[in-house]
Amino acid sequence: MVDQAERLRLLAEKMKQEAKQKGATRARVIAVTSGKGGVGKTNVTTNLAIAMAQAGKRVLVIDTDLGLANADVVLGVTPQFSLSQVLKGEKAIEEIVVEGPAGVKLIAGGSGFQELISINNPRLSRFLSSLEAMEEMADIILLDTGAGLSKNVLSFVLAADEVIVVTNPEPTALTDAYVTIKAIVKKSPSARPKLLINRAGDEEEFHSAQSRLVKVCQRFLGISLDVLGYILDDPNVSRAVKSQKPFLLAYPGTPASRCLKRLADKLLGAPVSKTTSEVKGVRGFFGRLVRTFSSSTAS
Ligand SMILES: Nc1ncnc2c1ncn2[C@@H]1O[C@H](COP(=O)(O)OP(=O)(O)O)[C@@H](O)[C@H]1O
Ligand SMILES: [Mg+2]
Repeated sequence: MVDQAERLRLLAEKMKQEAKQKGATRARVIAVTSGKGGVGKTNVTTNLAIAMAQAGKRVLVIDTDLGLANADVVLGVTPQFSLSQVLKGEKAIEEIVVEGPAGVKLIAGGSGFQELISINNPRLSRFLSSLEAMEEMADIILLDTGAGLSKNVLSFVLAADEVIVVTNPEPTALTDAYVTIKAIVKKSPSARPKLLINRAGDEEEFHSAQSRLVKVCQRFLGISLDVLGYILDDPNVSRAVKSQKPFLLAYPGTPASRCLKRLADKLLGAPVSKTTSEVKGVRGFFGRLVRTFSSSTAS
């Protein structure tokens, strides 16, 4: 008998084939994650989205943080619906997207991602076909994830084309970042997470923090960590959050904004890194997500 998990796997396989045949330009899906909580993922994701939008890209942020979803607060928008309604067939993707500053689009995940596990086959099929709309609205999709190593967080991270691991320079955060990188590489040996040090006091602090992580990753995981750079610790970040405005717009000349723009330039200039993912874009992403979810329901 074909069980639910098997059906999901077959469907994911079908999507993979379809996406391959289509061969269209796919959105670049970048997950922003961390080991420790509160290190700045949401601020990095939302401001990076704005910087990329200012550079002429169409950017979509998906808030996948199931516990502490707050990308909407930082962007100053209020989504009324989430992916849940799309999964239930009540809304189209276009109806749940809200537009924030600089034309950045936001989709709230809500409990939608958890519902992917239990959704029935025809509905899932419909949902997956509607993803095309998501692809059409974005060149870059940034996923704001939760912290830590829960199954949910790891599923998003492993399904993305690229992963940015954010940490601050404190030893506790660095240790947790290492644990996260290790978990990613263990599950997906060819993945190359990119490291971003947020809240660095100065360049020297950044260098010593990154070199510690680079060394342990080389020594114990046998990988050379891709270091993206740093964002300075800057009181204007907190001020901007309080006024519900991304710091890049509220304080464009502040040190954190200058670092952030450099980060965006680097990411946009860099050739898209090779990852384990066979199919890029939204379909590839959701296909892999469904596969990870279904493998967990099977075991
Ligand atoms: N570069 C920075 N400089 C100063 N404070 C920062 C910086 N980045 C983040 N913060 C502070 O940390 C808080 C938590 O950031 P947030 O992006 O919500 O973290 P996470 O999404 O990882 O939980 C922010 O509200 C802000 O006050
Ligand atoms: Mg957050």
